[in-house]
Amino acid sequence: MKVAVVGGGVVGLSVAWAAAEAGHQVVLIDAAPGSGASWVAGGMLAPVTEAWPGEEHVLALGSASLDRWPDFAARLEKKGGLREEGTLAVAVDAADREELDGVADYLARLGREVRRLTAREVRRLEPTLGMSVRSGLSVPGDLAVDNRVLLASLRKAATDAGAQPIAVAARSVSAGEVLLVNGSTVACDAVVLAAGARSGGLYEGLAKVVRPVKGEILRLKARPGALDPPTRTVRALVEGRHVYLVPREGRGLVLGATQYETGFDTDVTVAGVRDLLRDAERVLPGIGEYAVVECAAGLRPGSPDNLPLLGWLEPGVLAATGHHRNGILLAPITAEAVVDLLAGREPPEPARAADPARLLDVTNGGG
Ligand code: GLY
Repeated sequence: MKVAVVGGGVVGLSVAWAAAEAGHQVVLIDAAPGSGASWVAGGMLAPVTEAWPGEEHVLALGSASLDRWPDFAARLEKKGGLREEGTLAVAVDAADREELDGVADYLARLGREVRRLTAREVRRLEPTLGMSVRSGLSVPGDLAVDNRVLLASLRKAATDAGAQPIAVAARSVSAGEVLLVNGSTVACDAVVLAAGARSGGLYEGLAKVVRPVKGEILRLKARPGALDPPTRTVRALVEGRHVYLVPREGRGLVLGATQYETGFDTDVTVAGVRDLLRDAERVLPGIGEYAVVECAAGLRPGSPDNLPLLGWLEPGVLAATGHHRNGILLAPITAEAVVDLLAGREPPEPARAADPARLLDVTNGGG
């Protein structure tokens, strides 16, 4: 089949790579591949530490994709930037500790293996964390990836597999056709809509389903003499707010992430930067000596139930969007599901809950 993948973020690139490897003739349509939410991401592969009561389908899908990550990474240059040091969740004040205990109880009820840690045990694992950390959970199975290494590796893999880039933005998609902003069209047998937060603007049926959820991150670097960043990803609760610290090669650290519903706004705000730095410094006092390398904002593609939309919208138009906070985590299972759907097969079991039919009438083109 001729397959047009619209969107060159982590999802679109993974789909283009897998579809080309499966023997399809693939074009990848994006004016600036890898420059959207995937570029700004923290890169956590953390279905367990990001689990939320009531979102068991999200946890099941995320866990199934995490299981696929080591093989997915092994086939990429530089292992796609995968880091396997694991994750710690930590709490700062008494209420945070209570909330973290609640999370541990919830995960234990689901049969997930998490180990509760005292403050002293946390600091034994990560000696540069501050005295304000009161307790923790060890989740060694939750991993992380350097999103920018991943994007470069995926672009190479997709191109090597035969996917052809078209560096023009799409204006709209329909069965058998992608209309580009330059007025030309790309004819195909199937369109895979993987345009993240922009998906709703390209396909009318998704306009009220996929929405932008802004997130800001800070990229820092430990200067000579500054204390080391943690070796594991640290997800912290600080007076009820969430902040995460994701280490990068070369003493780098990504802090994230704020969450706002402000439409297509990618300004980095003073309040966002202040909150991230204030909360992260409670957890890692040494960051006062770090260099600020970059502040950036991206737009997560939110969906009403935080599950992606993964399935046919109408014959010839497949959705692979709405991944919200989990695009990088869900890339391997999304790519596998798309290849299955293109071949007329059922996708892997945990991906079936993500069928767009749960949210919209797919029989009339999602309208
Ligand atoms: N998964 C992290 C975030 O969306 O901020």
